[in-house]
Amino acid sequence: MNDAALDVRPSAQFRHLYQPPKIAGDFAGKHIITVEQFDKADLDAVIQSAGTLRERVLRRDGEVVRLCEGRIMASLFYEASTRTDMSFQAAMRRLGGSVVFGSNGVQFSSVYKGENLADTVRAAGCYADLIALRHPAEGSSFQAAYYLDKLNERIEKPCVVVSGGDGIGEHPTQGLLDLFTIVDQKGSVDGLAITLVGDLLYGRTVHSLAKLLAMFEATGVKLCFVSPPSLKMPDTVLDFVQKHGINVHETSDLHEVLGQSDVVYWTRVQEERFARQADYEAVRDMFVMTPAVLNQCKRDVILMHPLPRKYEMGTYNDHDILDQNPRSVYFQQMENGMYVRMALLAKVMGADV
Ligand code: NCD
Repeated sequence: MNDAALDVRPSAQFRHLYQPPKIAGDFAGKHIITVEQFDKADLDAVIQSAGTLRERVLRRDGEVVRLCEGRIMASLFYEASTRTDMSFQAAMRRLGGSVVFGSNGVQFSSVYKGENLADTVRAAGCYADLIALRHPAEGSSFQAAYYLDKLNERIEKPCVVVSGGDGIGEHPTQGLLDLFTIVDQKGSVDGLAITLVGDLLYGRTVHSLAKLLAMFEATGVKLCFVSPPSLKMPDTVLDFVQKHGINVHETSDLHEVLGQSDVVYWTRVQEERFARQADYEAVRDMFVMTPAVLNQCKRDVILMHPLPRKYEMGTYNDHDILDQNPRSVYFQQMENGMYVRMALLAKVMGADV
Protein backbone atom coordinates (compact mmCIF):
# COMPACT_ATOMS: atom_id res chain seq x y z
CA MET A 1 0.00 0.00 0.00
CA ASN A 2 1.41 3.41 -0.82
CA ASP A 3 1.14 6.70 1.08
CA ALA A 4 -1.73 8.07 -0.97
CA ALA A 5 -3.84 5.07 -0.06
CA LEU A 6 -2.99 5.38 3.60
CA ASP A 7 -3.60 9.12 3.37
CA VAL A 8 -1.80 9.59 6.64
CA ARG A 9 -1.46 13.35 6.79
CA PRO A 10 -4.81 14.58 5.52
CA SER A 11 -6.79 12.46 8.00
CA ALA A 12 -5.62 14.26 11.14
CA GLN A 13 -7.22 17.55 10.16
CA PHE A 14 -10.65 15.92 10.01
CA ARG A 15 -10.65 15.52 13.78
CA HIS A 16 -11.12 19.30 13.88
CA LEU A 17 -13.07 19.72 10.64
CA TYR A 18 -15.77 17.18 11.33
CA GLN A 19 -18.10 17.23 14.34
CA PRO A 20 -19.54 13.74 14.85
CA PRO A 21 -23.27 13.63 15.62
CA LYS A 22 -24.36 13.00 19.22
CA ILE A 23 -26.39 9.82 19.60
CA ALA A 24 -28.83 11.40 22.10
CA GLY A 25 -31.09 8.35 22.21
CA ASP A 26 -31.29 7.85 18.45
CA PHE A 27 -28.72 5.60 16.80
CA ALA A 28 -30.38 5.20 13.41
CA GLY A 29 -28.24 6.38 10.52
CA LYS A 30 -25.45 7.80 12.74
CA HIS A 31 -21.74 7.26 12.19
CA ILE A 32 -19.95 5.79 15.23
CA ILE A 33 -16.43 7.21 15.37
CA THR A 34 -15.79 8.33 18.95
CA VAL A 35 -17.21 7.48 22.34
CA GLU A 36 -17.73 11.20 22.88
CA GLN A 37 -20.93 10.84 20.82
CA PHE A 38 -22.55 8.81 23.63
CA ASP A 39 -24.15 9.95 26.84
CA LYS A 40 -24.81 7.78 29.85
CA ALA A 41 -28.31 6.83 28.69
CA ASP A 42 -26.92 5.75 25.28
CA LEU A 43 -24.37 3.56 27.03
CA ASP A 44 -27.05 1.96 29.17
CA ALA A 45 -29.04 1.30 25.97
CA VAL A 46 -26.08 -0.44 24.27
CA ILE A 47 -25.35 -2.53 27.37
CA GLN A 48 -29.00 -3.52 27.65
CA SER A 49 -29.31 -4.44 23.95
CA ALA A 50 -26.06 -6.40 23.89
CA GLY A 51 -27.27 -8.43 26.89
CA THR A 52 -30.61 -9.11 25.24
CA LEU A 53 -28.99 -10.07 21.94
CA ARG A 54 -26.61 -12.45 23.70
CA GLU A 55 -29.58 -14.15 25.32
CA ARG A 56 -31.40 -14.36 21.99
CA VAL A 57 -28.36 -15.79 20.20
CA LEU A 58 -27.89 -18.38 22.95
CA ARG A 59 -31.49 -19.53 22.74
CA ARG A 60 -31.24 -19.53 18.93
CA ASP A 61 -34.04 -17.04 18.49
CA GLY A 62 -34.64 -17.21 14.72
CA GLU A 63 -36.01 -13.68 14.64
CA VAL A 64 -32.55 -12.20 15.29
CA VAL A 65 -31.79 -12.61 11.60
CA ARG A 66 -34.58 -10.19 10.73
CA LEU A 67 -32.87 -7.28 12.48
CA CYS A 68 -30.45 -6.53 9.63
CA GLU A 69 -31.97 -8.69 6.93
CA GLY A 70 -30.98 -7.42 3.48
CA ARG A 71 -28.37 -5.03 4.87
CA ILE A 72 -24.81 -5.02 3.60
CA MET A 73 -21.68 -4.14 5.55
CA ALA A 74 -18.40 -3.34 3.83
CA SER A 75 -15.44 -4.41 5.93
CA LEU A 76 -12.65 -1.96 5.14
CA PHE A 77 -9.58 -2.87 7.16
CA TYR A 78 -6.31 -1.11 6.28
CA GLU A 79 -4.62 -2.55 9.35
CA ALA A 80 -4.22 -6.05 10.75
CA SER A 81 -7.15 -7.37 12.75
CA THR A 82 -8.38 -10.68 14.07
CA ARG A 83 -11.09 -10.04 16.65
CA THR A 84 -12.52 -6.74 15.47
CA ASP A 85 -12.89 -7.70 11.81
CA MET A 86 -14.17 -11.19 12.56
CA SER A 87 -16.64 -10.08 15.21
CA PHE A 88 -18.01 -7.24 13.05
CA GLN A 89 -18.54 -9.73 10.23
CA ALA A 90 -20.01 -12.40 12.51
CA ALA A 91 -22.29 -9.79 14.09
CA MET A 92 -23.62 -8.63 10.72
CA ARG A 93 -24.21 -12.19 9.57
CA ARG A 94 -25.92 -13.23 12.80
CA LEU A 95 -28.28 -10.29 12.30
CA GLY A 96 -29.17 -11.59 8.84
CA GLY A 97 -27.07 -9.10 6.91
CA SER A 98 -24.13 -9.82 4.65
CA VAL A 99 -20.60 -8.57 4.16
CA VAL A 100 -18.72 -7.32 1.11
CA PHE A 101 -15.01 -6.76 0.70
CA GLY A 102 -14.12 -8.79 3.77
CA SER A 103 -10.75 -9.40 5.33
CA ASN A 104 -7.79 -8.37 3.25
CA GLY A 105 -10.08 -6.92 0.61
CA VAL A 106 -8.22 -3.62 0.81
CA GLN A 107 -4.95 -5.13 -0.38
CA PHE A 108 -6.54 -6.38 -3.59
CA SER A 109 -8.65 -3.32 -4.31
CA SER A 110 -7.88 -0.04 -6.04
CA VAL A 111 -6.09 0.94 -2.82
CA TYR A 112 -3.28 -1.09 -4.31
CA LYS A 113 -3.37 1.22 -7.33
CA GLY A 114 -3.04 4.23 -5.05
CA GLU A 115 -6.66 5.23 -4.51
CA ASN A 116 -7.04 7.44 -1.47
CA LEU A 117 -9.19 6.76 1.58
CA ALA A 118 -11.93 9.24 0.65
CA ASP A 119 -12.52 7.63 -2.73
CA THR A 120 -12.40 4.05 -1.45
CA VAL A 121 -14.87 4.96 1.31
CA ARG A 122 -17.18 6.59 -1.26
CA ALA A 123 -17.05 3.47 -3.43
CA ALA A 124 -18.03 1.30 -0.46
CA GLY A 125 -20.66 3.90 0.43
CA CYS A 126 -22.37 3.38 -2.91
CA TYR A 127 -22.81 -0.35 -2.39
CA ALA A 128 -23.05 -0.94 1.35
CA ASP A 129 -25.35 0.36 4.12
CA LEU A 130 -22.54 0.45 6.65
CA ILE A 131 -18.76 0.49 6.55
CA ALA A 132 -16.65 -1.02 9.33
CA LEU A 133 -13.38 0.88 8.99
CA ARG A 134 -9.95 0.35 10.51
CA HIS A 135 -7.12 2.57 9.37
CA PRO A 136 -3.69 3.50 10.79
CA ALA A 137 -4.21 7.28 10.59
CA GLU A 138 -5.77 9.06 13.54
CA GLY A 139 -8.76 10.99 12.24
CA SER A 140 -9.41 8.58 9.36
CA SER A 141 -12.88 7.64 10.59
CA PHE A 142 -13.73 11.35 10.89
CA GLN A 143 -12.55 11.76 7.32
CA ALA A 144 -14.70 8.82 6.21
CA ALA A 145 -17.77 10.27 7.96
CA TYR A 146 -17.16 13.68 6.39
CA TYR A 147 -17.02 12.27 2.86
CA LEU A 148 -19.92 9.90 3.43
CA ASP A 149 -22.15 12.78 4.55
CA LYS A 150 -21.34 14.60 1.32
CA LEU A 151 -21.85 11.44 -0.72
CA ASN A 152 -25.17 10.72 0.98
CA GLU A 153 -26.50 14.06 -0.34
CA ARG A 154 -25.80 12.85 -3.89
CA ILE A 155 -26.77 9.18 -3.94
CA GLU A 156 -30.04 7.35 -3.23
CA LYS A 157 -28.97 4.92 -0.53
CA PRO A 158 -27.24 6.34 2.56
CA CYS A 159 -24.24 4.71 4.21
CA VAL A 160 -22.68 5.14 7.65
CA VAL A 161 -19.25 4.33 9.03
CA VAL A 162 -18.46 2.55 12.28
CA SER A 163 -14.86 2.80 13.40
CA GLY A 164 -12.95 -0.38 14.13
CA GLY A 165 -9.85 1.56 15.23
CA ASP A 166 -8.67 5.01 14.23
CA GLY A 167 -4.86 4.93 14.35
CA ILE A 168 -3.69 5.87 17.83
CA GLY A 169 -6.92 7.80 18.38
CA GLU A 170 -9.87 5.74 19.49
CA HIS A 171 -11.40 2.30 19.24
CA PRO A 172 -14.99 3.07 20.24
CA THR A 173 -16.57 -0.36 19.75
CA GLN A 174 -13.77 -1.95 21.79
CA GLY A 175 -14.38 0.59 24.56
CA LEU A 176 -18.06 -0.33 24.54
CA LEU A 177 -17.37 -4.05 24.72
CA ASP A 178 -14.91 -3.45 27.54
CA LEU A 179 -17.52 -1.43 29.42
CA PHE A 180 -20.12 -4.14 28.79
CA THR A 181 -17.71 -6.76 30.16
CA ILE A 182 -17.03 -4.77 33.33
CA VAL A 183 -20.76 -4.30 33.97
CA ASP A 184 -21.46 -7.94 33.09
CA GLN A 185 -18.77 -9.23 35.44
CA LYS A 186 -19.12 -6.77 38.29
CA GLY A 187 -22.81 -5.87 38.12
CA SER A 188 -22.05 -2.17 37.58
CA VAL A 189 -19.12 0.24 37.58
CA ASP A 190 -20.25 1.76 40.89
CA GLY A 191 -17.30 2.65 43.08
CA LEU A 192 -14.88 0.41 41.18
CA ALA A 193 -11.14 1.10 41.17
CA ILE A 194 -10.12 0.47 37.57
CA THR A 195 -6.46 0.30 36.61
CA LEU A 196 -5.29 0.57 32.99
CA VAL A 197 -1.76 -0.73 32.47
CA GLY A 198 0.79 -0.59 29.66
CA ASP A 199 0.98 1.49 26.52
CA LEU A 200 -1.51 4.23 27.33
CA LEU A 201 -0.03 6.59 24.74
CA TYR A 202 -0.50 4.56 21.58
CA GLY A 203 -3.14 2.11 22.81
CA ARG A 204 -6.42 3.33 21.35
CA THR A 205 -8.57 0.90 23.35
CA VAL A 206 -7.63 2.58 26.63
CA HIS A 207 -8.39 6.02 25.19
CA SER A 208 -11.97 4.99 24.45
CA LEU A 209 -12.41 3.05 27.68
CA ALA A 210 -11.07 5.84 29.91
CA LYS A 211 -13.45 8.34 28.32
CA LEU A 212 -16.39 5.97 28.68
CA LEU A 213 -15.63 5.30 32.34
CA ALA A 214 -15.39 9.03 32.97
CA MET A 215 -19.06 9.31 32.07
CA PHE A 216 -19.83 7.27 35.20
CA GLU A 217 -18.39 9.95 37.47
CA ALA A 218 -21.47 10.05 39.66
CA THR A 219 -20.96 6.41 40.64
CA GLY A 220 -17.64 7.09 42.36
CA VAL A 221 -15.51 5.17 39.85
CA LYS A 222 -11.76 5.64 40.39
CA LEU A 223 -9.23 5.41 37.57
CA CYS A 224 -5.56 4.58 37.77
CA PHE A 225 -3.21 4.84 34.78
CA VAL A 226 0.00 2.81 35.00
CA SER A 227 2.53 3.18 32.19
CA PRO A 228 6.19 3.75 31.45
CA PRO A 229 6.87 7.53 31.69
CA SER A 230 7.27 7.67 27.89
CA LEU A 231 3.87 6.06 27.27
CA LYS A 232 1.55 8.09 29.50
CA MET A 233 -2.09 8.69 28.70
CA PRO A 234 -2.36 11.61 26.21
CA ASP A 235 -3.45 15.00 27.58
CA THR A 236 -6.59 15.03 25.43
CA VAL A 237 -7.86 11.92 27.20
CA LEU A 238 -6.70 13.12 30.63
CA ASP A 239 -8.47 16.45 30.09
CA PHE A 240 -11.70 14.70 29.09
CA VAL A 241 -11.57 12.43 32.13
CA GLN A 242 -10.69 15.22 34.53
CA LYS A 243 -13.40 17.48 33.14
CA HIS A 244 -15.87 14.84 34.27
CA GLY A 245 -14.54 15.24 37.79
CA ILE A 246 -12.94 11.80 37.91
CA ASN A 247 -10.25 11.06 40.42
CA VAL A 248 -7.24 9.87 38.35
CA HIS A 249 -4.00 8.53 39.72
CA GLU A 250 -1.06 8.28 37.28
CA THR A 251 2.00 6.25 38.15
CA SER A 252 4.74 3.97 36.81
CA ASP A 253 4.67 1.90 39.98
CA LEU A 254 2.27 -0.96 39.45
CA HIS A 255 2.68 -2.41 42.92
CA GLU A 256 1.43 0.77 44.50
CA VAL A 257 -2.04 0.17 43.02
CA LEU A 258 -2.42 -3.48 42.11
CA GLY A 259 -3.76 -4.66 45.48
CA GLN A 260 -6.51 -2.03 45.51
CA SER A 261 -7.82 -2.53 41.97
CA ASP A 262 -11.16 -4.18 41.19
CA VAL A 263 -10.46 -4.24 37.46
CA VAL A 264 -6.99 -4.59 35.95
CA TYR A 265 -6.91 -3.85 32.21
CA TRP A 266 -3.63 -5.01 30.66
CA THR A 267 -2.40 -3.83 27.25
CA ARG A 268 0.24 -4.63 24.65
CA VAL A 269 3.01 -2.15 23.88
CA GLN A 270 2.07 -1.06 20.35
CA GLU A 271 5.29 -1.99 18.56
CA GLU A 272 3.95 -0.88 15.17
CA ARG A 273 3.54 2.74 16.36
CA PHE A 274 7.16 3.33 17.37
CA ALA A 275 9.46 5.22 15.02
CA ARG A 276 12.54 3.51 16.48
CA GLN A 277 12.77 -0.17 17.40
CA ALA A 278 15.18 0.65 20.25
CA ASP A 279 12.54 2.85 21.90
CA TYR A 280 10.08 -0.01 21.77
CA GLU A 281 12.56 -2.49 23.17
CA ALA A 282 13.37 -0.15 26.05
CA VAL A 283 9.79 -0.30 27.36
CA ARG A 284 8.57 -3.64 26.03
CA ASP A 285 9.09 -5.61 29.22
CA MET A 286 8.27 -2.96 31.80
CA PHE A 287 4.89 -4.40 32.71
CA VAL A 288 4.51 -8.14 32.36
CA MET A 289 1.45 -9.90 33.76
CA THR A 290 2.39 -13.32 35.13
CA PRO A 291 0.65 -15.68 37.58
CA ALA A 292 2.83 -14.19 40.36
CA VAL A 293 1.65 -10.66 39.50
CA LEU A 294 -1.97 -11.78 39.37
CA ASN A 295 -1.53 -13.26 42.84
CA GLN A 296 -0.85 -9.77 44.18
CA CYS A 297 -4.30 -8.64 43.03
CA LYS A 298 -7.54 -8.74 44.98
CA ARG A 299 -9.27 -12.12 45.13
CA ASP A 300 -12.23 -10.80 43.17
CA VAL A 301 -10.28 -8.71 40.64
CA ILE A 302 -11.05 -9.15 36.96
CA LEU A 303 -8.12 -9.23 34.55
CA MET A 304 -8.94 -7.84 31.12
CA HIS A 305 -6.94 -7.54 27.90
CA PRO A 306 -8.16 -6.41 24.46
CA LEU A 307 -5.76 -8.92 22.83
CA PRO A 308 -3.62 -9.77 20.91
CA ARG A 309 -0.97 -10.41 23.57
CA LYS A 310 2.74 -10.63 23.02
CA TYR A 311 5.49 -10.05 25.58
CA GLU A 312 3.27 -8.36 28.20
CA MET A 313 1.76 -11.66 29.38
CA GLY A 314 4.97 -13.61 29.84
CA THR A 315 5.58 -17.01 28.32
CA TYR A 316 3.13 -19.46 26.78
CA ASN A 317 3.30 -21.30 30.05
CA ASP A 318 2.24 -18.10 31.86
CA HIS A 319 -0.61 -17.73 29.36
CA ASP A 320 -1.87 -21.22 30.16
CA ILE A 321 -1.84 -20.60 33.89
CA LEU A 322 -3.42 -17.16 33.60
CA ASP A 323 -6.07 -18.43 31.18
CA GLN A 324 -7.27 -21.00 33.69
CA ASN A 325 -7.61 -18.46 36.46
CA PRO A 326 -11.28 -17.49 36.91
CA ARG A 327 -10.18 -13.87 37.39
CA SER A 328 -9.08 -13.70 33.73
CA VAL A 329 -12.04 -12.57 31.67
CA TYR A 330 -10.40 -11.73 28.34
CA PHE A 331 -12.04 -14.61 26.52
CA GLN A 332 -15.48 -13.48 27.72
CA GLN A 333 -14.45 -9.96 26.67
CA MET A 334 -13.66 -11.31 23.20
CA GLU A 335 -17.06 -13.06 22.91
CA ASN A 336 -18.85 -9.98 24.22
CA GLY A 337 -17.35 -8.04 21.33
CA MET A 338 -19.73 -9.81 19.00
CA TYR A 339 -22.86 -9.09 21.07
CA VAL A 340 -21.93 -5.44 21.54
CA ARG A 341 -21.24 -5.04 17.81
CA MET A 342 -24.54 -6.76 17.06
CA ALA A 343 -26.28 -4.23 19.29
CA LEU A 344 -24.56 -1.30 17.62
CA LEU A 345 -25.05 -2.51 14.06
CA ALA A 346 -28.72 -3.27 14.65
CA LYS A 347 -29.31 0.11 16.30
CA VAL A 348 -27.44 2.09 13.64
CA MET A 349 -29.39 0.23 10.96
CA GLY A 350 -32.57 1.42 12.70
CA ALA A 351 -33.69 -1.91 14.17
CA ASP A 352 -35.65 -1.87 17.39
CA VAL A 353 -33.34 -3.63 19.89
C1 NCD B 1 -6.51 -3.72 19.85
C2 NCD B 1 -6.36 -2.71 18.71
O1 NCD B 1 -6.35 -3.08 17.53
O2 NCD B 1 -6.29 -1.55 19.06
N1 NCD B 1 -6.97 -4.97 19.42
C3 NCD B 1 -8.31 -5.19 19.29
O3 NCD B 1 -8.98 -4.54 18.51
N2 NCD B 1 -8.87 -6.12 20.09
C4 NCD B 1 -5.37 -3.79 20.76
C5 NCD B 1 -3.99 -4.09 20.26
O4 NCD B 1 -3.76 -4.27 19.07
O5 NCD B 1 -3.09 -4.17 21.10
